Formats: sequence, C-alpha cells, structure tokens
Amino acid sequence: MNIDTILIEAKTGRPTTRAAFEAYKAKLVGANGALTQVIKGIGKLPPEERPAAGQAINQVKKELESIFNERLVEIEAQERKAVLGTPVDPNLPTRDKRGRLHPLTQVRNQLTEIFAKIGFVVAEGPEIESEWYCLDALNIPQDHPARDAQDTLYFPKQLKMGNVNKKADEQYILRTHTSSVQIRAMLKNPPPLRIIAPGRVFRRDTVDATHSACFHQIEGLYVDKGVTVCDLKDVLDHFLKELFGNKVEIRLRPSFFPFTEPSFELDLKSPHMGALSNQWIEILGCGIVDPAVFDSVGYDSHVWSGYAFGAGIERIAMLLYGIDDVRLFYQNDLRFL
Ligand code: DAH
Repeated sequence: MNIDTILIEAKTGRPTTRAAFEAYKAKLVGANGALTQVIKGIGKLPPEERPAAGQAINQVKKELESIFNERLVEIEAQERKAVLGTPVDPNLPTRDKRGRLHPLTQVRNQLTEIFAKIGFVVAEGPEIESEWYCLDALNIPQDHPARDAQDTLYFPKQLKMGNVNKKADEQYILRTHTSSVQIRAMLKNPPPLRIIAPGRVFRRDTVDATHSACFHQIEGLYVDKGVTVCDLKDVLDHFLKELFGNKVEIRLRPSFFPFTEPSFELDLKSPHMGALSNQWIEILGCGIVDPAVFDSVGYDSHVWSGYAFGAGIERIAMLLYGIDDVRLFYQNDLRFL
C-alpha cells in the first residue's frame, strides 16, 4: 500500500467494536502495518527524494491520528448506548404521571369552581398585610378584644422588608384572615361586586391536631343593592350541597364579628359524614356587611348592601375526607398525599 491507499483504507474503515478498531489500526500503523512498511521503504529511495517522502508521511500520520480519534469516539458512544440503552435526555418531561395536586389545592380548586359557576371571581391580597387592611378597615378598633383573639404575628415597626412597599409608620402583620382581601377588592372595584378569596393566613397558635400557625381560608363577599340574610343563606346552602351532597342541612346561629351585622356561625349536618354524621358541625362565619366597612372603602352604605363569609379550607378538607389531624396536610408524607 502507498500512503494514498493507506488514507483511503483509514477513511472507509468503520470498525464497530473496540477489538475491530485495534485490528484496523494495527493493519495501518502497527509494527507490521502498511505505514511502517512505507517508512522502511524510505531508505531505498534516492537521497534527493527522501525529504519530500518524509514530509508526506508525517502529513499522513497526522491525518490518520484524527481519523482514529473519530472512530474511537464513535465506538465509545456505541459502548455507552449498550450499557444505558436509549440515550438519556434529563430535560424530557417524565412519562411517569404519578404526581398529584396537594389535597388542600384540590379542595381549594373545588371551592373556587363552585363559586365561579355562580359568578364569583377570585381575588387576591398579600400575606404580609398592614394592620389597616386586616383590622382597622374591617371595623376592628385598636383596643378591641378581637385583636387579641386574632393572636396576631406582628413585624417590628422599624424592620425593612424586601419588596414590600412599606409606608413609614404603618404597622405590618402576617394577615390573620382573608377578610383583608374584601377591603383590597372594594378599594380596587366599584360596586356591585362578587369575589371569592382563597389564601394562607397566620396566627400565633400552638400546633396540635386541630390548630396550625399557618392555615388556609376562603373568603366570600357579595355587594349589590338590597342584599338580605336570605341571599346569604341561599348561596351558602347551594355551596355546601354542591360540596357535601344534597342531603346536607344548614342552620345559622347568631354570633359576632366586627365586620358583619348581623353575624352568624353556620352549622351543617349530613347523614354521610362518618363519625360526625347527623350532628350539627360548625363550618364557617358569615353575616351582612357592617356599614362601617363600606365607610372604610368609600362605598355608600345607604345605597349598597352585602354579605360576607369566611371558612377554613383545612376544616372543609378534613370533613370531606374524614381526616382527623391537621398536621397531616403539612408533613408531605406520600402515603397521606
Ligand atoms: N375572618 C373570620 C375569621 O377569621 C371569618 C369570617 C367571619 C369572615 C364572618 C367573614 C365573615 O367574611 O363575614 O375568623
């Protein structure tokens, strides 16, 4: 073989295994290979031809080197494929669809869907809230015992808080209820209004089977002309029947909230509620919006009226699924999820 045919052999050879590669390489450049024979032949050339032949051989050696490298890369890729099967692309979405929405997310979606069907729009507000939105504007005065009852988590007044647009002497807290979103929604929109506001709330509570320092609520607010307790009872009856089935009975029990007058606690009774079947169970707070709340947001309380309600999402989920310990929602134990 001369150097041209050696190059052609190298280029057309396609060994597919490492052993075949070694044989292919040995045939061309091994101790008894074709190129070695060519190099040995240099001595037989006339002296004036030797330098050119040497240079040509060096050139071919370089080209062979790069061809051999390419072949080796191909073989290594084949070997990896044999070990791993199909090559892995870690960016592809998984074919394993075992993931599920968290039970609380599922229940929240179920609640907002029931209300969406009757025209309630989802509204949001911040979890770091000023006292004004969470308490003052909701007719809870500075010295009102409800402020203690809320067991609020306060931020130090002088604290700088990242991207919270903090006004100089406003007191910031972690919102204790989603009722603050009522105020935000009314300040943003003129009446009439129909909103539902699910979200996280925080209290200075000791954690046990029925308490958590952080839990979820869903708030409802309806503002229109001539709204009555009858409308309130009707919408909540519809909501709870959609959720727990048509056999559910409800009753309103007089209660007190600073932001509603009259205020009620709503109890429900169902024949299909496990150990709690056929008992009255308290499920949410509600009432007719207090005119003082409309005054806070500049709605004319002589023209507009409304109802509001607030419920704990964990509590609803526990009743729906017969869960007896609220801590299960936050432990991320896959058996529970
Ligand atoms: N914000 C109350 C709480 O956290 C719940 C509540 C009661 C909300 C009555 C309301 C309402 O909108 O009208 O305990």
